[in-house]
Amino acid sequence: MNFELLDLDAAQAGHEKCDVLLMLLSSSFKAGRSPLSSLISKALKAGDLADKPGSLLDIYRPAGLACARLVLVQLGDGKPSNVRKGVTAAIALLKSAKPRQITLCFDQAPDGQALHVALTSLAATSYVYATTVSKAEVRTIALVKVGVPNSTDMAAPFAQSVATVRGIELAKEWANRPANHATPSHLARAAQALAKSPRIKCEVMNLKDVEKLGMGAFLAVAKGSAEPLKFIELHYKGAPKSQPPVVLVGKGITFDSGGISIKPAAEMDEMKYDMSGAASVLGVFKALAELQPGINVVGLIPACENLPGSRAVKPGDVVTSMSGQTIEILNTDAEGRLVLCDALTYAERFKPQAVLDIATLTGACVIALGGVRSGFFSNDAAMTAAMAQASESSQDLCWPMPLDDDYAEGLKTNYADVANVAGRPGGAITAAKFLQRFTGKYPWGHLDIAGSAWKSGAAKGATGRPVGLLLHYVLSLQTRVA
Ligand code: BES
Ligand code: MN
Ligand code: ZN
Repeated sequence: MNFELLDLDAAQAGHEKCDVLLMLLSSSFKAGRSPLSSLISKALKAGDLADKPGSLLDIYRPAGLACARLVLVQLGDGKPSNVRKGVTAAIALLKSAKPRQITLCFDQAPDGQALHVALTSLAATSYVYATTVSKAEVRTIALVKVGVPNSTDMAAPFAQSVATVRGIELAKEWANRPANHATPSHLARAAQALAKSPRIKCEVMNLKDVEKLGMGAFLAVAKGSAEPLKFIELHYKGAPKSQPPVVLVGKGITFDSGGISIKPAAEMDEMKYDMSGAASVLGVFKALAELQPGINVVGLIPACENLPGSRAVKPGDVVTSMSGQTIEILNTDAEGRLVLCDALTYAERFKPQAVLDIATLTGACVIALGGVRSGFFSNDAAMTAAMAQASESSQDLCWPMPLDDDYAEGLKTNYADVANVAGRPGGAITAAKFLQRFTGKYPWGHLDIAGSAWKSGAAKGATGRPVGLLLHYVLSLQTRVA
């Protein structure tokens, strides 16, 4: 699906030849004299386009217009959630029509946020997973022309939104793939493919390298599976060496059975999504490859399966992490924090300006925040502020969570420096407290995306979150430095 930006006002939109003209209307619509404009006024006056956000009016071969079909979309006050509602409803309506070309127009100049939500919603609603379906009905939309009255102002936000869509779709592809089609080796190859783009480099470490580094926590998780582990390191170099990078660490558990502390059978298939953090890092690098911004970014992905093989780590085993801290593994299903803690120690070598890890870490975070907002934890005020802004501008939402030291009490044990689990209360926070022990040397943030990375039920599938959030965050660092 390609995107093109056009300079179009409501009068010019009527002359656009396309399969479908999607006209997004706000409640402050001002009628002009063009045929399209008078059609809209009549429809509004007659009440045929309700003023409720998400209302649609579908018109076939409208007289005097060049489009084969016109869909009027009511956005109401035009706030982001209503833009999403409107575009999602319109694209869902068109699914059976199989349009190849859509022209998307705004009745008045949108801001970057409205444009971003419109494009990401269009992409999300028209997305089709096809890789392992032999007769998939793939997406028919080949070209989306985006008409705005202020196209020169919108060129940069447009490019950023299109790059975000590319990143989201790469993340969805990898997160959606079944675990036997998305092993650590597959992820490593995907990362290496990204390194074909300018300014991107990729290195993949194997068992021997990880042993040499002393990543005892990561190794303990990987031991239960015959599938070889990979430690993936990506670099995007868009600024001079003197500029410290931001490091993104993605949890890459390609399947989480729980290990010896095995999970119940129901919905265990969804643990193929347990590498969604890793997928989001790949997605961000895809977007960086397209945008080529002036920043330095490092991506780290500890990737392995968590299985109960005969060599698997056992409850009560004590391992030594790369940091030197010993860990008593009381529950082998709390594996995400084990692979992450060694990657967080490894991140120190880049002398980063900030480190952000992204993980489907805890069921408790799903209970706390559901699927609307990802949980965000940080020890750094500047990062917390930048993430709050990125959350708003990307509409890939997160919410600040606490890190009081009292939450770490339950991680105490007589047999090691720290245990890998505490009790059930505050489970998302105690997991973050565990990670925090490994992050003393840089500003750090942690995103728990267990609720936001995929949807269950009939609409089961990866969301591509939080690629939008991450991209907005890393790009905000660029403007701050410049
Ligand atoms: N990958 C899971 C977290 C998860 C569970 C995400 C369900 C989304 C839905 C993680 O590895 C895990 O198993 N966490 C345990 C931690 C517990 C043993 C302290 C959990 O949340 O149950
Ligand atoms: Mn687990
Ligand atoms: Zn897991």
